[in-house]
Amino acid sequence: MTDAAFRVVVLVSGSGSNLQALLDDQTGYEVVAVVADRSKAAGIERGLRANVATVCLPLRHPKDSEARHAWEEVVARVIAAFAPDLVVMAGWMRVMSSRFVAQFADRMINQHPALLPSDGAATMPLSDGQVIPVIRGAHAVRDALMLGLPVTGCTIHRVTEEVDVGPILAQVRVPILPDDTEASLHERIKQVERPLIVQIVRELAQGSPAP
Ligand code: GRF
Repeated sequence: MTDAAFRVVVLVSGSGSNLQALLDDQTGYEVVAVVADRSKAAGIERGLRANVATVCLPLRHPKDSEARHAWEEVVARVIAAFAPDLVVMAGWMRVMSSRFVAQFADRMINQHPALLPSDGAATMPLSDGQVIPVIRGAHAVRDALMLGLPVTGCTIHRVTEEVDVGPILAQVRVPILPDDTEASLHERIKQVERPLIVQIVRELAQGSPAP
């Protein structure tokens, strides 16, 4: 890390194991802040333990659109205060408005625990000729199991207005095993996701491809 490090703000809602991988690495980039949207997010503890500015901004009235709008503005202001070169949604479980996305356009990436195409397609051909449904949304691991897919994976993509759609930066397939549970499959996916997010953030910090 240098004074002129590439500045990364990480958004978390849950356990934060991907955040931890980023905190443990910090090669060519610096995690300058962690923002959580729920007080129980274990990622908060990880940020604090790493001595990184960590802010919890709970969304208290998710169904009240005015309150939600005001909350988003605060989240955006807090992120902007850290002047990030890159914002990483690492298990951030809130869908943000197009206004928010526009504010961090071209410098915000998301992790999704399934294979995604970079357009809005509903199915996706695999290299071996199989065609699988595209699984978007908050229950991608559970849905892959319920659909009986042979394979799923993880994707890192740029965030655009549409949820779980956006130019793909990296993607890895993960086979689904016959005795997989949601927990076992998600953990195998995360084992792939952690080094992948580190690799992508390192590459973006080096300017390839430009954030
Ligand atoms: C990851 O599987 C990510 O793809 C999804 O949420 C999970 C976050 O895991 N969006 P963790 O909180 O980093 O352990």
